[in-house]
Amino acid sequence: MFGQFMNIDQPLTLLGGISAHEFMQTYWQRKPLLIRGAIPNFKHSLSIDNIRELVTREEVESRLITHDGEDWEMETGPFDELPPASQPNWTVLAQSVDLHDDNTAALMRQFRFIGDARLDDAMISIASDGGGVGPHFDSYDVFLLQAHGKRHWRISQQKDLSLLPDLSLKVLRHFQAEEEYVLEPGDMLYLPPHVAHDGIAIGDCMTISIGFRSPTQATLIRGLMDAVSDQLAAASGEGFGLYADPPIAMPETMQNRYTDSDAIASSTPAALPENLIQKSLEALHAVRFDESLASRFLGVWLTELPSNSWFDIAEEPIDLHDTDLPAGRLVLDRCSRMMYRGDELYINGEVASCPASPALKQLADQREIQIPGNVFAELDEDEREMLNAWLDDGWLQFLEG
Ligand code: SIN
Ligand code: CO
Repeated sequence: MFGQFMNIDQPLTLLGGISAHEFMQTYWQRKPLLIRGAIPNFKHSLSIDNIRELVTREEVESRLITHDGEDWEMETGPFDELPPASQPNWTVLAQSVDLHDDNTAALMRQFRFIGDARLDDAMISIASDGGGVGPHFDSYDVFLLQAHGKRHWRISQQKDLSLLPDLSLKVLRHFQAEEEYVLEPGDMLYLPPHVAHDGIAIGDCMTISIGFRSPTQATLIRGLMDAVSDQLAAASGEGFGLYADPPIAMPETMQNRYTDSDAIASSTPAALPENLIQKSLEALHAVRFDESLASRFLGVWLTELPSNSWFDIAEEPIDLHDTDLPAGRLVLDRCSRMMYRGDELYINGEVASCPASPALKQLADQREIQIPGNVFAELDEDEREMLNAWLDDGWLQFLEG
């Protein structure tokens, strides 16, 4: 109705001149890609000094890694003081900088062609000459964007992924580089999971890693079980829990009680009845593990906020019912997470009070709505009320102009 947000067939400088569609078909989860000049003349708005300041903060997750060629050490932040730039062989990594800085969040969102369900965070590392985290592999895809100075990357598709023992960080026991490159600002290296890599700073260095998340089967199963458990609690009047607000209808047979009219007198009263064991297993078949349950779990879980997200509350929030609103944009805060499936809309770990209308889906995809504009004009009274509440909570910001 309102048009597509992204043209996935358009060649992108960010991907070295291929389209998002082609990248996904050829490289994603399959093979590494080196992109020279992915962001021409790139200069990130955060400097090395800004990252030094960021890792002093309690709300920023950070790690300091030092090595002497053989031994590796890791400390977790916050760090009031870091080694001087003149001391070689250290790096400090700040996790999820997108939660704390608008420009980093905007940079990360250039990768939304992979989908919000998979996009995780933007980590920024700074390093002195020789600094790095050691040869290792990650279980996730990553785009390594060089932001300042140079980094010497060596990569390998080796099968031997055994690690050095007794270390607090994962360092490969035998790393055998197959390819190497020196990355300069704006260059980027994409690596699928399990490709071994080692990035060593050449002088002062800053690297931005766009990371992805991929749940294990165990996490997905547990999530579905939690969602079922919340639905059952809601159906029994025992509260809603994270995944049952509002509840999804459960089969009425759930409330049927155990019967054993065919039971015989027991001479071993402490023994568990086999009938009860079988009936318990049979009862499980009544649970509908269907798309609405999976969508409920995933929508709520994937939009849940990390504990260190923080919303700035507008001092004088506007009222979207007003008829003479100033021109501007309604923009999702950098920390807000919004997804949808079918009629259900999820925001920041909740099911939204209004269904996912085309206008609200547009807000989720584009992360903003223009005022005035035809999408804004589509919003009904209830939707405006809901967005007013999001403005009050800082989930949504109004930017005039
Ligand atoms: C970095 O050192 O900035 C990147 C860490 C990595 O290789 O995953
Ligand atoms: Co890595």
